Amino acid sequence: MLEPLAHIGRDPATGGYVRDAWSEADMELREWFAGEAARRGLDLREDRNGNLWAWWGDPSRHPGVVTGSHLDSVRQGGAYDGPLGVVSAFAALDLLKNRGVTPARPVGVVCFTDEEGARFGVPCMGSRLLTGAIQPDRALALTDDAGDTLADVMTKAGRRPYGIGRDDETLATVGAFVELHVEQGRGLAEHGRSVGVASAIWPHGRWRFDFRGRADHAGTTRLADRDDPMLPFARMVLAAREAAERRGAVATVGKVRVSPGNANAIPGLVTAWLDARGPDERDVRDLVAELSEGLDVREESWTPVVGFDPALRDRLARAAGGDAPAPILPTGAGHDAGILAAAGVPAGMLFVRNPTGVSHSPAEHAEQADCEAGVVALADVLEDLCR
Ligand code: GLV
Ligand code: MN
Ligand code: MN
Repeated sequence: MLEPLAHIGRDPATGGYVRDAWSEADMELREWFAGEAARRGLDLREDRNGNLWAWWGDPSRHPGVVTGSHLDSVRQGGAYDGPLGVVSAFAALDLLKNRGVTPARPVGVVCFTDEEGARFGVPCMGSRLLTGAIQPDRALALTDDAGDTLADVMTKAGRRPYGIGRDDETLATVGAFVELHVEQGRGLAEHGRSVGVASAIWPHGRWRFDFRGRADHAGTTRLADRDDPMLPFARMVLAAREAAERRGAVATVGKVRVSPGNANAIPGLVTAWLDARGPDERDVRDLVAELSEGLDVREESWTPVVGFDPALRDRLARAAGGDAPAPILPTGAGHDAGILAAAGVPAGMLFVRNPTGVSHSPAEHAEQADCEAGVVALADVLEDLCR
């Protein structure tokens, strides 16, 4: 089932995926989703925020059990982060039908829009807008690298951007949400298990640092006369690593913009994005405060710690575990399930083993047998929840 998606947004030079929200690749992925819904006779809806919902049963009478994930990608990402959850959702519905299950509640498959925030910088945009975790005005004004706003690109995609925002009507259809995801660590490989359940999502956020200096000639400007913003930037990167180590947290600078970007000129501006996460919210906050001292820093997103509902978590572990309950693991990755959980929706996650743990890279992988075990576990979980 992943095969028809394999060419969409793929960079042939690297094998990585570039699937920005509202890009041509995204539109193609949305069409694929609509086709899968139609083939199964599911009722397709796109909400005001661009999230896609395919329903088996009518959730306007009774809230449903929803599963799914996202189809967008980080730049040069792998094939599984997102799509595995969507594909497995459709496959689990097929399995329920094959088992002759008639769910007592509606069952829905969702594709959340712009989970990675690769284009506009804020992750989980679709679920944040849906739950009101981000204000529409702020979202619409965000710009991509070309200077286009979210409002511009939604309009170009034929959507009505001024309708975005908290959507209680759609939220009311979600009685429970279960997101299946490729694991982004080696926890399951170490447990020797195919499928696990999430306990919590680490608090995490993104911060933009602007280092300003004075552009000048690389050959004729004496070192003493320079105001080179690359130097404080470099100090920040090293300090981030050291501060994270000291606190048992993680900190990453994965995106940098150097302006004007000449090999033979001192830059005038360096803009860098820090991603910081850790098990303890206070530690992450302190780390960022320490790095920010005296610098021009703007918080672009912040997601507090999410602890998934323990009763639902244990129910998922039993339903997905077969003979022995599935292992329960925390994660440092952000997910739409976390945004929904924070908004009070009973939510949980299943993870599928990733042998190397590598993710957000073309090397991301899951074995076919583990993906199949994931689908069976998801079907078992849905069957349990939609009684
Ligand atoms: C999403 O994958 C994130 O954790 O950044
Ligand atoms: Mn991801
Ligand atoms: Mn994901």
